[in-house]
Amino acid sequence: MLSRSSASKAQAIAKLCAMPHSALATTMLRAALLHTLKPRQSSAAVAAESSASAGASAASSPTAAVSAAQQAFAPLDTFLRRHNGPRQSDVEAMLQALGFKSLDEMVAAAVPNSIRLPEPLQIADGEFPERELLAKLKNIASQNKVYRSFIGTGYTDVVVPNVILRNILENPGWYTQYTPYQPEISQGRLESLLNFQTVVSDLTGLPAANASLLDEGTAAGEALVVCLNSARKKTRNVFFADENCHPQTLAVLRTRAEGFGAEIVVGDYKTFDFASLGDRLAGALVSYPDTYGSICDYKILADTVHGQGGQLVVAADLMSLSVLQPPGEFGADIAIGNTQRFGVPLGYGGPHAAFFATTAANQRRVPGRIIGVSRDAEGNRAYRLALQTREQHIRREKASSNICTAQALLANMAAMYAVYHGPEGIKAIADRIHRFTQVVAASVASAGHTIENTTYFDTLRIRVADTTSAAEVHARAAECQINLRRIDSQTVGITLDEAVVRDELVKLVEIFGGNAAAVDSLATSVSATVSESSAIPAGLVRQGAILSHPIFNRYHSETEMLRYITQLQNKDLSLANAMIPLGSCTMKLNATTELIPITWPEFSQIHPFAPHEQTQGYAKMIKDLEEDLASITGMDATTVQPNSGAQGEYAGLRAIRAYQSSKGEGHRNICLVPDSAHGTNPASAVMAGLKVVIVKCDNKGNLDLVDLEAKAQKHATNLSAVMITYPSTFGVFEDGVLRAIEIVHANGGQVYMDGANMNAQVGLTSPGYMGADVCHLNNHKTLAIPHGGGGPGVGPICVKSHLAPFLPGHPELVNADGTPQSTVGPVSAAPYGSAGVLPVTWSYIKLLGARGMTEVSKTAILNANYMSNRLRDHYSILYTNDKGMCAHEFILDTRVFGKSAGVQAIDIAKRLQDYGFHPPTMSWPVPNTIMIEPTESESKEEMDRFCDALITIREEIREIEEGKQPRDNNILVNAPHSIAKVSAEEWPHPYSRQRAAYPLPSLRERKFWPSVSRVDDAYGDLNLMCSCPPMENYQ
Ligand SMILES: Cc1ncc(COP(=O)(O)O)c(C=O)c1O
Repeated sequence: MLSRSSASKAQAIAKLCAMPHSALATTMLRAALLHTLKPRQSSAAVAAESSASAGASAASSPTAAVSAAQQAFAPLDTFLRRHNGPRQSDVEAMLQALGFKSLDEMVAAAVPNSIRLPEPLQIADGEFPERELLAKLKNIASQNKVYRSFIGTGYTDVVVPNVILRNILENPGWYTQYTPYQPEISQGRLESLLNFQTVVSDLTGLPAANASLLDEGTAAGEALVVCLNSARKKTRNVFFADENCHPQTLAVLRTRAEGFGAEIVVGDYKTFDFASLGDRLAGALVSYPDTYGSICDYKILADTVHGQGGQLVVAADLMSLSVLQPPGEFGADIAIGNTQRFGVPLGYGGPHAAFFATTAANQRRVPGRIIGVSRDAEGNRAYRLALQTREQHIRREKASSNICTAQALLANMAAMYAVYHGPEGIKAIADRIHRFTQVVAASVASAGHTIENTTYFDTLRIRVADTTSAAEVHARAAECQINLRRIDSQTVGITLDEAVVRDELVKLVEIFGGNAAAVDSLATSVSATVSESSAIPAGLVRQGAILSHPIFNRYHSETEMLRYITQLQNKDLSLANAMIPLGSCTMKLNATTELIPITWPEFSQIHPFAPHEQTQGYAKMIKDLEEDLASITGMDATTVQPNSGAQGEYAGLRAIRAYQSSKGEGHRNICLVPDSAHGTNPASAVMAGLKVVIVKCDNKGNLDLVDLEAKAQKHATNLSAVMITYPSTFGVFEDGVLRAIEIVHANGGQVYMDGANMNAQVGLTSPGYMGADVCHLNNHKTLAIPHGGGGPGVGPICVKSHLAPFLPGHPELVNADGTPQSTVGPVSAAPYGSAGVLPVTWSYIKLLGARGMTEVSKTAILNANYMSNRLRDHYSILYTNDKGMCAHEFILDTRVFGKSAGVQAIDIAKRLQDYGFHPPTMSWPVPNTIMIEPTESESKEEMDRFCDALITIREEIREIEEGKQPRDNNILVNAPHSIAKVSAEEWPHPYSRQRAAYPLPSLRERKFWPSVSRVDDAYGDLNLMCSCPPMENYQ
């Protein structure tokens, strides 16, 4: 029998159980917040607080009983306390060190009151505990229907080798790495990316390949610009594109051409009169195989294009290149494409790595990153980013590309796929795909349909018999949960992939009314290999070996593969090892719960052009995100299409231009950019067809408002926009931002806010509240998508309502009546860009909710100020506000040590590696300084370890200043100290090996070894080698 109080408690619990799930969740959440927003007490204290209040109240009223039940059922897996590094006692100690009584008091000193949000941030639901979050997202994911898609058009299903899935895609040792700008602690992924370049170079038959680009469409745009730039005359600005390229590639190409004033002529390459273009032809793009499957011989076309002074660009399919003649052999100057089918999931369109390969003549114009081989200080082989200072976006307004973040993780996956399968494995996959395509072709033809392409590798364009229609075929396919490509009312397309199994082949044959019983005999009677097949033009069968380098011939058992992946991973410092305090890069926690959903089939196995009724889960998640991101930024509309921050900048500036054109102000072509801006800002402005006018910053690091006003007034008639990063790249919340925005608006311009530093804004202020018209977010910084060693990136843009009609469209984004949703062209090949990683950001927002995210911003500011305060007696902090506060990052002025000790910022950076840390951002935005951003996720202990390292390094510098160590042979200029260096027979240095390797006692417990000593940049650039070194180096 229940006691009275127990009975009322039970009733209350019953009431709770009868609540709808969301109401229950909300109620529980409030209780859970005891563990989140008030987590600063120890768990025991919270539990005591909970049970004390539960005990007292249960006896008194039903409401109190509910409260007791809430306490009893409160989830323990709340997230905020896991996401933020410092514990409550740490927060108190840090505030005390800074002289503040509360977090809010500290924030008030860092953030100008004039920009603070008057009301708390609002986000529809959220603050879910981790397990509940996954259940909720699974529910949304289940609204996606996972059909087998044979739509092709540049995307196919794959069999992701599980050893790669688990040990790269799902492994924080790989996905939390940063771009390998510090080669000594990045040799693993540099080797892997060099493998990627080698695969691309080998399969395309072109000597110079990069690692990597955002998608095939972007790569086509980059190829266009290389063609334009290598033409001597500006009038050579017409680019031909064959009509049988993938539609999304053509659409992105058209977009890109606009900013450069180039004309895209789309036609049939077979009949087009190239002579009519005279010397205006910059280049031509064709697809190999084409979008409908035909394999054409482009040799004559190459001669024609070259004869007219242009370049031939070939959009190629990497898998078919293993069996087809490489483009380099028939005269292509550039080959581009997507590497998705090398073991990277569909993910509703991305992220996937695109490739770009070209001739030696174009080598120094290659966009994105190139990995090269160099040597270290001991003369050992070492990899590095080659031609680093020539990375296009670093050339600012002289750049021809804005590629920075570029799908590195996915390039690593594709490279590992080639390493795992090797030449025979890849060829076997290609032969199998082609064999099954022949089976379908034969069955479909004998059922009375017409295969329109006489040549093919994996794609058939089928004109269905008059007795049926494409609609009927699609309906039958849908019954089998199969998607085919929709071409027109009588034509369907089908592309086979490596994942096809016998049952699917049977279903495909049946869908076309073919003889399923004949599948087995056909499968054995058609050509077993591409080289014997009549569907491949004889002259286009590949001759000679592929992937003969030992790296692709060694690791074919899972044990060997696992060890190779792990061996490379062990050379790379990631967040799994230590903090990566890179200013402006926000290397925060990428939580496991946030990452888990990306490999669910409901998200990862969806084709980007699957019918909308199959993608309702994605639609719901993307809608949630668009709304939440608009709230976070104080804007009205969002697109998640851009694949990186820089693509966001480009999309945002294009929206501004399209809006201005719609008002008859298309002449506005001036973009004001502060000299402190990230290189992608001016580069994106140039790509959007704008002229960059640089605005100065004053000696406190603030935007020089006098200069801004003068330039805005001078260019008022033609002023299009200003690009502002906030808080500034100098790490300060500038007071003058509102005035800057006012000035630009008063002179007819629009305000673009670069969101790279949004981690300091969320919940405290917002671009929209401050008056910006458009901003981008770097989801791979602020919103927990991992950096992956240089991508995936997601750079959504959020705009005020007047710009909403000018967000990028896409051939697949159409209204019910078939009209395009936007008249503005796409910036990415897939309608929602890198949709496959959007679940990460969705989860981050829903785990933290509005209050949690606000707490995150405050903690990020606290952590930065704590560190700057600890370091200020040892280094000078370059910029702070008038209260001595920085925002979420700060710059250490290391320039003085050049004179006093011959030590540069790079020496401090390299010495930090000996202490087991990834160096902060170096020499940007101020040359020869370092910029530190700890993020909220780092604990006080880790920040103290980092500060201890920097303080000890300061003492090491002092020894040089005091003449105790020579200027040319000291512990800094010789850093980092690899194992090889420390254990060498000879030790010609005036300090001990122990000091070199173990400068602090704590390192005995926790040492990360740089795998090479300092890499020789100049040697690498002078002796450029961008594919795997010759075999003898591997003996
Ligand atoms: C201030 C700023 N803007 C723009 C970008 C470009 O972003 P993404 O690398 O995603 O293209 C960065 C990248 O670090 C940045 O720091």
